[in-house]
Amino acid sequence: MSAAGAILALETSCDDTCAAVVTPEGEIRSNVVSSQGVHDRYGGVVPEVAARHHLELATPVVEDALARAGATVDDVGLVAVTQGPGLVGALLVGLATAKGLAAARGLPLAGVDHLQGHVAANYLGPEPFEPPFLCLVASGGHTFLARVTRHDGFDVLGRTLDDAAGEAIDKGARLMGLPFPGGPALERLAAEGDAGAFAFPTASRVPGLDFSFAGLKTALLYTVRELGEGAAAERRADLAASYQHAVVEALALRVERGLEATGLRRLAIGGGVAANGPLRERMAGLGVELRVPPRELCTDNAAMIASAARWATPLRGEAAFSLDAYATGQRGL
Ligand code: KG4
Ligand code: ZN
Repeated sequence: MSAAGAILALETSCDDTCAAVVTPEGEIRSNVVSSQGVHDRYGGVVPEVAARHHLELATPVVEDALARAGATVDDVGLVAVTQGPGLVGALLVGLATAKGLAAARGLPLAGVDHLQGHVAANYLGPEPFEPPFLCLVASGGHTFLARVTRHDGFDVLGRTLDDAAGEAIDKGARLMGLPFPGGPALERLAAEGDAGAFAFPTASRVPGLDFSFAGLKTALLYTVRELGEGAAAERRADLAASYQHAVVEALALRVERGLEATGLRRLAIGGGVAANGPLRERMAGLGVELRVPPRELCTDNAAMIASAARWATPLRGEAAFSLDAYATGQRGL
């Protein structure tokens, strides 16, 4: 590999074991994601199971990321790792692995905030999207709207008051008998249905830039109950399309308000839900400059953590060794 001083990043905040090699300029050399695929039988991520699988997968995934980049540890100049927010047991596996690597090779270690990672996915090559911009991050664990004016942080303008958008999608999908995580399956089923068949709420009465998805979830539950098992099964595609439409509209409403409030005419979207086709189309129709990272950079990955690490403080020695995980974000997210 030509670029010396590469960043080797690990991301283990939830159920995907991820490692990536990225150059200091933000060029992705490899981006490996190993999805555990063991949580669907429980209908959600089981923290202990996730941590155990990270333990098994972390080293092979790091080796795979280096091999795919055509690199060895000798090419690495910085080790980066997700510190939080996320499942603490899962995060600790990534942290321990990263600390071990850094200590063994005498390399600096950068702790990265997972949400900053989702924002920093926009700074990766080949065409980095530079601040200032409005950023919507919608994932399984988080949903927020931010004003981004610098590479090393963001200002939260609005956040979800209850469920994250992806959580609402996963719970809705589960009610429709779809496998976990529900997003991709819901999107496929929705493609065969009528988005106008059911009028689900978008929490438009919640003022300002905060999100709320609890009412939507309840509305789906009542609709399914009213229809009865047979009719609900028959109309699954219509239910999926209408439900997905409500999630997209709820997100779009806050984005429109955010653009209006900030006067920004540049928008980036990220997080797993940003992989959703109809959401991408809706955002493209807003008439502002839009950045939509490729799907593999929207869902959890380590390339985004490496990207963010370029503006993080590299730690050595005791400071690196005592880097700790956190479950809840430093911004209260
Ligand atoms: O960012 P992410 O990979 O992990 C978290 O940090 O949570 O986001 C995962 C979420 C899940 O709720 C999943 O159902 C949702 O993103 N998702 C989608 C799609 N692909 C993943 N939601 C809607 N449409 C999709 N195509
Ligand atoms: Zn995420």
